Amino acid sequence: MEAVVVESATHETPVPVARLTTTQRYARCIEASKRIRWDIERDVIRGRRFDFDKKFMPDRLSKVAELKFLRPSEMRFMSHVQGRSYANIFGLVERYIGAKTLELSKNYWFGDQVALEALVRFTDEELKHQEMFRRLERMAAAGMPAGYTFKLDPNEVAAAVLGKSTWAVLGLTLDIELFTQAHYRSSIEPDPNLSELWKDVFLFHWKEESQHAVMDELEWRRENARLTEAERDQGVTDLIGLVAAVDGIVQVQAKSDADYFILRAGPVYSASEQAAIRDVMLKAYRYQYIVSGVTEARFTEVLKAMVTPAQLDRIGSALAPIVAHVGH
Ligand SMILES: [Fe+2]
Ligand SMILES: [Fe+2]
Repeated sequence: MEAVVVESATHETPVPVARLTTTQRYARCIEASKRIRWDIERDVIRGRRFDFDKKFMPDRLSKVAELKFLRPSEMRFMSHVQGRSYANIFGLVERYIGAKTLELSKNYWFGDQVALEALVRFTDEELKHQEMFRRLERMAAAGMPAGYTFKLDPNEVAAAVLGKSTWAVLGLTLDIELFTQAHYRSSIEPDPNLSELWKDVFLFHWKEESQHAVMDELEWRRENARLTEAERDQGVTDLIGLVAAVDGIVQVQAKSDADYFILRAGPVYSASEQAAIRDVMLKAYRYQYIVSGVTEARFTEVLKAMVTPAQLDRIGSALAPIVAHVGH
């Protein structure tokens, strides 16, 4: 019977995902990973440079429309600053994600070799993505005024994240890998005013991230099933700690990016305009890196199935001030 299911899973009649075994779901990830696999130079960059006459970050994510006093060239510069940090922040989180995936692969060394292969490919893809984002940072630097700084160290952040429980780390990872896809589908892909290269980077990234989110969910559920009530409660505490850490990261980078923007955008902004720029930068980053992920239906569905209503309330209360700041 199993063979029949596998056969039909790869041909015309799709088998509902719920009916697949875990191994079959990992096998699908491998199959998709092989089919999609791309090369940084040959498929994504293709000898191109960024078009700085076009935007990077789409308006729907940058919240730039809230700054009514900006001229079009300043709005475009805002999108370049945010888009540059967006690529750097992905490169940053992929350091810990790759290391965690390698660590999880240990569970399968002498067991399910399909799951092992899927997790090794996942890690390999995150290493490639980090290389791509480093390459993009150099290309962005070449076309933008001096003074931009990326404030976070990937190894320091990874060490802090990996100090938390696996349950919490997998929750954060699923959140990140789901919002990556949501941003591409609902904001980046439909925007016709973006640099073709910047847009392609996130098209190709999205294609590989789709498999990662499937594996995050499988691993998170696996870890969840293993835990005692007390361990899961600690996981909830750790997840809240990780969200606070992400908020700390976005506050640092939003401040640095607002300083850079105010210095290099052109006009001399009044004190109230500067305050508005700082506020919108932080709101945008909180929306991009926290709120857009935790409000994804698939994330809340998986989370709700694991925690008690009281634990869900604890998470909700921790998020409430951030969600309130972002607004809609
Ligand atoms: Fe990635
Ligand atoms: Fe990923």
